[in-house]
Amino acid sequence: MRTVRTIAELRRALAPARDARLRVGLVPTMGALHDGHLSLLGAARAECDLLVMSVFVNPLQFGPSEDLAAYPRDEARDAALAQEAGVDLLFTPAAEEIYPPGFATSVVVRGVSERLEGEQRPGHFEGVATVVAKLLNIVAPEVAYFGQKDAQQAIVIKRLVADLDMPVRIEVCPTVREHDGLAQSSRNAYLSAEERARATSISRALERAAQLIARGERDSRTAVAAARGELAAHDLEPEYLEIVDPDTLVPVKRVERPVLVALAARVGRARLIDNVIATPSTNGVEPS
Ligand code: PAF
Repeated sequence: MRTVRTIAELRRALAPARDARLRVGLVPTMGALHDGHLSLLGAARAECDLLVMSVFVNPLQFGPSEDLAAYPRDEARDAALAQEAGVDLLFTPAAEEIYPPGFATSVVVRGVSERLEGEQRPGHFEGVATVVAKLLNIVAPEVAYFGQKDAQQAIVIKRLVADLDMPVRIEVCPTVREHDGLAQSSRNAYLSAEERARATSISRALERAAQLIARGERDSRTAVAAARGELAAHDLEPEYLEIVDPDTLVPVKRVERPVLVALAARVGRARLIDNVIATPSTNGVEPS
């Protein structure tokens, strides 16, 4: 594995692969790698000839009162894990490399960016879309890999590449969970043991809603109320807990098709997000 820190170096390193028409895959990350990232790397390694992973804690996607300074960073550990996972090129640019003096362009994806996370974190998706557009331009991969845990991010990025005619396939890989259901996230590192135990109610709340829908509940308010009950039992109040269309993120009142149940909640100083796809029963038969 080779580590490169500049865009020029990365492009030079990729040139022979382009000439040889190798399939280049990109896994963009902010580091603090966990099993979720490793599953993205596994999927990419299985289908790409040359695997690029970027580690860049993107200042543009953090609000002024968010955890940019505290965000976990461990370059040596990330590099060791990347090497083990079969990464060929590790791209770890400094902030000035990505946003040099005079940088003045921003990518706004309207509509799907504006709900859920977008309402709670103004400017977040503008930061994500801007850096992802830059990374896709820099690496020009055939496939780029993202996690379903950040479902809205994946939807925003799919919209971005479709609208800007970027020749890349966006692959969304399943959420990786701990043994007790907690979704893998770099921010889990902020949880104390007591908070970690309460945080498991997040995936249970989502499962509760999904189970009700699978068993025939059609009213999304009932499913949301049950999920809220699960959280309240562990002293958690969601920032949002909504049942929405999985492509458009428009709220769904009556569940007739698969829906996305999405939530965000603060547990101590960690802000955690998670989601599941809930599939309604057909004719009283639970989906398998
Ligand atoms: O999901 C993340 O880690 C980040 O939002 C991403 C896609 C690497 C952009 O900074």
